Amino acid sequence: MTVLDPVQIKKDFPVFAHMPKGFAYCDSVATSQTPSCVLDAMNAYYTHARANIHRASYSMADDATTQYEAARADIARFINASVPEEVIMTAGATMSSNMLYLMLAEYLPLRPGDDIVTSVLEHHSHLLPVQLLAEREGLNLLHAPLSKDGGLDHDATAKLIGPRTRILALTLASNVTGAIVDVRPLIEKVHASGGIAVIDASAYVGHATLDVSALDADFVFFSGHKMLGPTGIGVLYGKKKLLERLRPAFVGGGMSEETDMTHMRCTDVPYRFEAGTPPIAEAIGLGRSVRYSEELGMDAMRAHIRDMVAYATEKVGAFSGVTLHSMKDADRNIGIVSFTLEGIHPHDVAHILGEQGVAVRAGHHCAEPLAKALGVPGTVRAGFHVYTTREDIDALVAGIAVARKTFV
Ligand code: ALA
Repeated sequence: MTVLDPVQIKKDFPVFAHMPKGFAYCDSVATSQTPSCVLDAMNAYYTHARANIHRASYSMADDATTQYEAARADIARFINASVPEEVIMTAGATMSSNMLYLMLAEYLPLRPGDDIVTSVLEHHSHLLPVQLLAEREGLNLLHAPLSKDGGLDHDATAKLIGPRTRILALTLASNVTGAIVDVRPLIEKVHASGGIAVIDASAYVGHATLDVSALDADFVFFSGHKMLGPTGIGVLYGKKKLLERLRPAFVGGGMSEETDMTHMRCTDVPYRFEAGTPPIAEAIGLGRSVRYSEELGMDAMRAHIRDMVAYATEKVGAFSGVTLHSMKDADRNIGIVSFTLEGIHPHDVAHILGEQGVAVRAGHHCAEPLAKALGVPGTVRAGFHVYTTREDIDALVAGIAVARKTFV
């Protein structure tokens, strides 16, 4: 397997040339950076093919449609969907999740007293739509607890799944602890009980190979901006036979086969779920970002990010006064080191780090129940990607030393 050189890789990302010398970008879980090939692909659409898709037959419009559908095919291949039609373009993970649960409310035979099983690791973009669904339909919302190492307690989760479970709603990796969740056996269990599985892959995709077919998840969603793609684009993957049975949550232009003053007949999957003009340039950009990741090699990317986690876990963890809240086993961590520093609020630590030229995020990271379960007001979180260097992590450690000196 190729060993990646992050110093060379940084040259693919124009933003690094514009950062002050020595600036360490360690906030890639909040959002990753974007390589020039992605920016070029979006720019090429705006400069050579700026037309709407699926609507006109002049050549520029054909070109736009071809590029958009090629991006769908690229994304489908990247996540190993059976066919491109299983990929729905959305505005991001939050939109994917909200629209899915609105559609499931109508599709599933939900009865008051049925169960949804979720976990304390969930990001609000997954937890809150599930909460709304449970409130509206009178469902029991059961949540699986944290394990001691910052992951999911698998045994406890498995015990929650039973004949009343209609939906299993789980993340594939925590955006706070980085823990990778072994969802496959849990998906098997919910299927055996007649339920469906919805998986949030937002923190996972683009950091390690996502194979939706191997997972056998019914629905998977994620954003583009954490996987070296643009903002404003996300994906909802669904098994085709399930998508064909869902009624769209959003309606409008481009999604009906026939409309009269009282009725509408939906067009085919996936177009029926993409009402209105979609984020065309962003979809094309996301298609290019997955090709860029494939060019680097997903195994090589995963190996590099894993090494960064191992290095940062050792260096940050060895620091006096630090408590690590992230998964220490780098093999089971998607690319995150989260910590608190004794006696100093996480926001103060992040502020000092920012002054030292180290970008991190502090707080509950839109996973507030998880911060509560960890017993902290929040954490300082460093997130790594394919361009992260050991020097970035050394700068993080040096910044922690300054924070400690400033406050203690
Ligand atoms: N969901 C992003 C994060 O975890 C924004 O920071």
